[in-house]
Amino acid sequence: MPVNLNLDHITESIGLDECYEAVIESKFDPCDVESFQAIGPLLKKLNNNQTFLSDILIAELEEHCASQSLTNRYTPQVIMLKGAQKGINFFMRANIWLPKSDPLLLASGEKSFFYRVPHDHNFNFLTSGYLGSGYHSDYYEYDYERVVGYPGEKANLRFIEHKQFGQGQIMLYRACRDVHNQLPADDLSVTLNIMPSMMFSHLHPQYVFNEQCTEVERTTVTTNGSIEPVLYLIAQRGSGKGLDFVEHLAQHSIIEEDRFRAIKALTSVQSSKEGKLNVLEKLGLKSKSKLVREMTKSHQAALGYV
Ligand SMILES: [Fe+2]
Repeated sequence: MPVNLNLDHITESIGLDECYEAVIESKFDPCDVESFQAIGPLLKKLNNNQTFLSDILIAELEEHCASQSLTNRYTPQVIMLKGAQKGINFFMRANIWLPKSDPLLLASGEKSFFYRVPHDHNFNFLTSGYLGSGYHSDYYEYDYERVVGYPGEKANLRFIEHKQFGQGQIMLYRACRDVHNQLPADDLSVTLNIMPSMMFSHLHPQYVFNEQCTEVERTTVTTNGSIEPVLYLIAQRGSGKGLDFVEHLAQHSIIEEDRFRAIKALTSVQSSKEGKLNVLEKLGLKSKSKLVREMTKSHQAALGYV
């Protein structure tokens, strides 16, 4: 369960710039739960400011969302408040949580807004309930070190509790430990986040679990998600040099999932079943990584080569 910070006694309110500068000044360590918790009061003070977000939205609309276009790589659910910057170890954002009756939610589906997508995070982050009665969540914990991460693997999540994250609450999500299955809010809700800018967070996968929260469904990464089509392109159009590069990645990438992505790309180049099976056998099924072996088995089955 994320760490609940009871900061109801803080009634002071500050602006976004003031909060941002104070968090920089604090020199907090986003990898350390206690250090991250220590900046909770600053987020609470910003959270008490119930006008700053609408001021930002008005300014954005007047400028045709110029600032968001430059800094925001998220879906429209997210408003970037302070984007990632060189030399600064965090960024700030606001998230919109639509109620279950909202026409946009009904049209796009709940999963488009991360509802009913149980997941963990590979970083700590601080969050506050800024507006509305908040999203509901079923909270779980699990042992990250005991999970290899291939689809279908039993994850042994332990249910902790159900909670609604309403206005004024502050929580710290703990990396690779807290899992939440978010359910639609009852009314339009907004949360604020202080997020770490983690250079190496993609080295730790974060997981999406199945809806029953019994097994790993897939891994998800936020920083190198576009590598798969790039590897396909290099493997298919990069001549011998390209194939050598992708094979090297398939054997030596520090990110196990990228090894598997490279194997998939090399498999796609082979025109015959025998050729594909050779690649899968040599690079995937004989890999030292259990994750690569298990993902290769799944891919082999998906190709119909059982
Ligand atoms: Fe989440």
